Order: sequence, then C-alpha cells, then structure tokens
Amino acid sequence: KELIGEVEAFKASSKEEIEAFRIKYLGSKGLLKELFAEFKNVDAAMRKDFGQALNNLKNASENKVSALQQALDNSVEENAFYGDLTRPHEPIELGSRHPISIVKNQIIEVFNRIGFTVSEGPEIEDDWHNFTALNLPEYHPARDMQDTFFIEKNPDTLLRTHTSSVQVRYMENNKPPIRTISPGRVFRNEDISARAHCIFHQVEGLYIDTDVSFADLKQTLLYFTKEMFGKSKIRLRPSYFPFTEPSAEVDIYWGLETETDYRITKGTGWLEIMGCGMVDPNVLKNANIDPTKYSGYAFGMGIERIAMLLYQIPDIRMFYENDVRFLEQFKSVL
Ligand code: PHE
Repeated sequence: KELIGEVEAFKASSKEEIEAFRIKYLGSKGLLKELFAEFKNVDAAMRKDFGQALNNLKNASENKVSALQQALDNSVEENAFYGDLTRPHEPIELGSRHPISIVKNQIIEVFNRIGFTVSEGPEIEDDWHNFTALNLPEYHPARDMQDTFFIEKNPDTLLRTHTSSVQVRYMENNKPPIRTISPGRVFRNEDISARAHCIFHQVEGLYIDTDVSFADLKQTLLYFTKEMFGKSKIRLRPSYFPFTEPSAEVDIYWGLETETDYRITKGTGWLEIMGCGMVDPNVLKNANIDPTKYSGYAFGMGIERIAMLLYQIPDIRMFYENDVRFLEQFKSVL
C-alpha cells in the first residue's frame, strides 16, 4: 500500500525518467516481478489481501506510465506549435478586389489628375433630384427612357436611375467652378441579359465654370479614353438627354482582335461607352446657378461596360454571381 502511494505521487518530465520508472516497477526484473515471485511464500490466510494489493500496484504503475507518456506527448506537440516564435505563420489566403471596384478606382484616378473630386449621394432618391431638377418634369415622356423602380408614390421615392442625382445635390451645395465625378450604384427595371442588368454602376462627371465649351468636353473625353484604354479613337453621335443640350453618345473603337471583342461590340468593333453633353440652362437654373454667367458639360458612363472591355468579360451577369473562380482572376490586380 505504501508502494501504491509512492507510485501515485511520482512525477517525471522526460522520456528517460518515465522509462526508468517503468523498468523499476514493471520491467522483467522489476519490483512487481519480485513481489509476484514472493506470492507462493505468503501465508494462505493473507494470500487474498496480498494478491489484491499486488494487482492494485500493477494497475497503478501501468496507469502512471501511460499518463506520464500522454502528458509528455502533449507538451512536445505544444512546444512544436508555440516554441519557435520566428517561424512563418500559416499562410493567410488573400482576397482580391472586385473588378467593378478596380475599374471604378482607375476612373477616379484618371479624373483626379485633372482636378475632379469625388462626390457621393443616396441610392434612394426623391423625384426632384433624380428627375425634376434634371429638366424632366412630371409627365415628361423622357422619363420612360429610365425604367424606374419606385418605392413610394406621392411624393415619389425611388431607386436612383443614374448618379446625375448626386450632381444635382452637389450643385445645390457648391458654387462654381465645379469639377466633380459621382461613382455609384444605380437601378433600372430592365430585363437581365448578357449586356444589361437591373443593378449596375456609373461614374458621372460634371464641370461648370465660365466659358466651358463643347471643345473642352471633347478634349476631356479624348484624355480619358487615352488614359483608360491606351487608345482614343472615339466618335460622338448626336443624341438626346433632357439635362444636356446638345447631347451626344460616345463610342470607342476597340477593334475586333478577340472573340470577346466581337461579342461585346456586336461585330462592329465600336462600343458605346457613355452619354454626354452641355448642361441644359434649365438644370443650372434649378440649382440656382446663373446660366448667363456659367456653362458646363456633363457625362455619364457604365463601369461594367468598361470593365467588360478591359478584362474581356463577355457577360455582365458574371459581375454579380460571386463565383470564386471568376473573382480569383483579379488577385494580381490592385
Ligand atoms: N445620366 C445619363 C444616363 O444615365 C448619362 C448622362 C450623363 C448623359 C450626363 C449625359 C450627360 O444615361
């Protein structure tokens, strides 16, 4: 019984100490072997107790050895894990930016360089900022051009159909000269296809100062396309927007080098990338800017379109599916 107490109190922290303990008690010439050999010399009356005590000692010794062994294994593992503070960390999987963000940042950067600041506004808009202030009074047929998602009627609350609404807000709160671009998400009730989606992103620009002309607009467009695409073969097609007069649509000549170029440009090599024009005097008046003193130009483009060209993405829906195999391909771009 004394021996059992000794066994239970035993402590060891190395492999060698544990092994010495095992040999001492359980080895082929160990204490237990010796004591079991004594068994036959024990009085018949005491055999039962003696035998039980021996078994207890044997069990206690075996348990001790395996417990010590287990503790030692655990601490070896722990040391391997925490021991070397200079070892490199488990690699952390890096994410990637979404192509829409990459292209948006590029556009912002190009316009920052010529003095445009970034302005933002709410995605849920009122009628005034999305339509009326932009020279689209109620019942104006041009409202149909923008298939609007209404949230409430009377007074109208809606998901903005373009970020021109941000520019109205900017004009209300700032005095010319104004040079701002408004990137953001916009919403239109359109059928979803390879070329169109009901949610997409725009960057719209506004420049107001004395003596701003259409030539300034065209020069800015040439600068932008050159910086953004490395080429600036563009054409301006006369168009109509209620908030600009005259208005134009800008096409870029992209060429037909790849299958995707062919699909995106419908086989023409040309792709419409934005709308633009000289800010209508009514829009300036609505924002309390004197149209006899100031003039300006405005433009608006879809970020998806531009990203599709740059990264050869044939279907706009790929931007919103969050397929990791698609997103991972932008890891190298920051
Ligand atoms: N707001 C127009 C649209 O969303 C784009 C545009 C902006 C056109 C500025 C002309 C001038 O389609």
